[in-house]
Amino acid sequence: MYVCLCNAVSDKVIRQIARQYHPQSLKQLKLFVPIGSECGKCIRQARLILEEETAKNAKLNKVA
Ligand code: FES
Repeated sequence: MYVCLCNAVSDKVIRQIARQYHPQSLKQLKLFVPIGSECGKCIRQARLILEEETAKNAKLNKVA
C-alpha cells in the first residue's frame, strides 16, 4: 500500500528501512525516503508504521 502518493513510497519500503537502518525518528527516516516532502499528508501514517516497526525490533532484541 502506498503511504506517500506524492513520492510513491510504500509501507513495505518504510518497514524495510526501519528493519535495516533503525531510524529513531521521522527526521531520520526522511534521510532515506523523501516522505512528506510535498503535501505532507503521509506523515502521520509514516510515523505509525515507523513506531510499529521500532516496537517489533525492540521485542526481537529482547528475545535475542
Ligand atoms: S503524500 Fe507524502 S508528501 Fe504528499
